[in-house]
Amino acid sequence: MSKALDGVRILDFTHVQSGPTCTQLLAWLGADVIKVERAGVGDATRGQLCDIPGVDSLYFTMLNHNKRSITLDTKNPKGKQVLDALIKQCDVLVENFAPGALDRMGITWQHIEQINPRMIVASVKGFGPGPYEHCKVYENVAQCAGGSASTTGFDDGPPMVTGAQIGDSGTGLHLALGIVAALYQRNSTGRGQKVLAPMQDAVLNLCRVKLRDQQRLERTGTMHEYPQYPDGKFGAAVPRAGNASGGGQPGSILKCKGWETDPNAYIYFITQAAVWPAVCKVIGEKGWIEDEAFATPAARLLHLKPIFSRIEQWTMTKTKFEAMEILNQYDIPCGPILSMKEIAEEPGLRQTGTIVEVEHPTRGKYLTVGNPIKMSDSPTEVMRSPLLGEHTDEVLTQLGYSSSEIAALRAERVI
Ligand code: COA
Repeated sequence: MSKALDGVRILDFTHVQSGPTCTQLLAWLGADVIKVERAGVGDATRGQLCDIPGVDSLYFTMLNHNKRSITLDTKNPKGKQVLDALIKQCDVLVENFAPGALDRMGITWQHIEQINPRMIVASVKGFGPGPYEHCKVYENVAQCAGGSASTTGFDDGPPMVTGAQIGDSGTGLHLALGIVAALYQRNSTGRGQKVLAPMQDAVLNLCRVKLRDQQRLERTGTMHEYPQYPDGKFGAAVPRAGNASGGGQPGSILKCKGWETDPNAYIYFITQAAVWPAVCKVIGEKGWIEDEAFATPAARLLHLKPIFSRIEQWTMTKTKFEAMEILNQYDIPCGPILSMKEIAEEPGLRQTGTIVEVEHPTRGKYLTVGNPIKMSDSPTEVMRSPLLGEHTDEVLTQLGYSSSEIAALRAERVI
C-alpha cells in the first residue's frame, strides 16, 4: 500500500530529540529520510544513557526509526559538495542545531534557495527572535520558559517539570505539521520556505489553557476550580494546581487498593456534572443528589476537598482496574495511573501498533512507541534505526558517485 508522503525526500540534519521526533514521524508517513551524521561520531544520543556497551542506545534507536544514515563532514569542502548534491535532490532540510550553526557551515538560506528554490528549510530552535534567540536549549529549559513549570506541581512546592517531553517531542510534532503544510503550499507556489518551531512557543501552545486562566485571574481575582479555592489565596500569577482538572469538570487523583505498597495504585476521577447522581450512588451517598451543598456544580466547588476525600474512601476499597470497570458502567470519566511497566505489557497497545517490538542487529529485540497517528490509507511499519553510516554508499551511489570516488572520500575522512 502507498504511504501519505511517498516521494518526499528529507535531508535530516537533526540530532538529540526534538528534530529526530519530527523526521521519524515524517518517515513513518512514508518520506525517505536521510540522516546526516558526523563521520565516526554520529548523533550524540547514540552513545548516551547506554544500557548495552558499544550498542546504539535506546535513546537513539527509539527516535530514529525508518531512516537512512549517512556520515559526512559537512565542514570539509568535498563534504559540502555532497551536501549540495543532496540539497538539490531533496524536498525538505530539517535541522535543530544551535542557533547560527547552519550558517557557520555555509548552508545559509540564500545558498539553499539558489541551488534549490523548492526546498523547505525547517528548524527547531529554543527561542524565536528576541533576547534569547542565541541560546542553546534543552527540554527542561523550554518547559520552564514556556510556562509549563510554573503551572505544574503543588501550590506549596517548587515549580516542576513534567515527564512528557513537551519541549522536545512536542516541538518536533509542531515542526512536522509546519513541514507538511509547507509542502502543500509549494504545490501552488512552486517555492520552498523557511519553517521555524521555537521550543518556547510550542510549550506555550500546549499550555494555552494556563494563559486563559491568567486572564481570568486578572479579571476576577479567583478561579473556582483551582484547589486554592475557597480557603487559600490567589496571587498575581496562575498558581500550580496540583492534580486538579484543567477544565470545568473537577477531577483529582485518588488512592486505590494497594496504594501503601504500589506507587501507581491510583485513579484519576472526574466528577462530571452530567453523572453526579451516578457518582453519589456508586460511593453510597445518595443523599448528596438532593443535598443543597452538593446538588449543583457551583455548590460542589465549595466542597471539593471533602467530596474527593469521600470518593477516595470508596476507591481505596477497589483496585484501579476494578474501580474503572465499575465507573465505566455509569460513564463516569476516570483513568488508571498506568506505570510504564503496565503500558509495556498491555496487549491492546501491541495490537494497535502503539507499542512495537523491533529487532536490531546489535541490540536484539527492544520495545518502542509506534506511530501515534493511525491512517487508514497510509499504515505505518516501524523499521529499526540505522547503524551509523549504514547507507552512506547507497545514498552516494544514488547521487551518482562511483565506487572509486566513494572510496576516495572515505580515505580522506569526508564520509
Ligand atoms: N559535519 C561537520 N560538523 C557538524 C556536522 C557534520 N555532519 N554536524 C554537526 N556539526 C557541527 C555543527 O556545525 C556545530 O558546529 P559549530 O559549533 O562550529 O557551529 C557543532 O557540530 C555542534 O552543533 P550544536 O548544535 O551546537 O551541538 P551541541 O551539542 O553543542 O548543542 C543543542 C546541542 C541541542 C543544545 C543545540 O543543538 C540546540 O540548542 N539546538 C536547538 C534547540 C534544540 O533542538 N534543542 C533540543 C534538543 S533535543
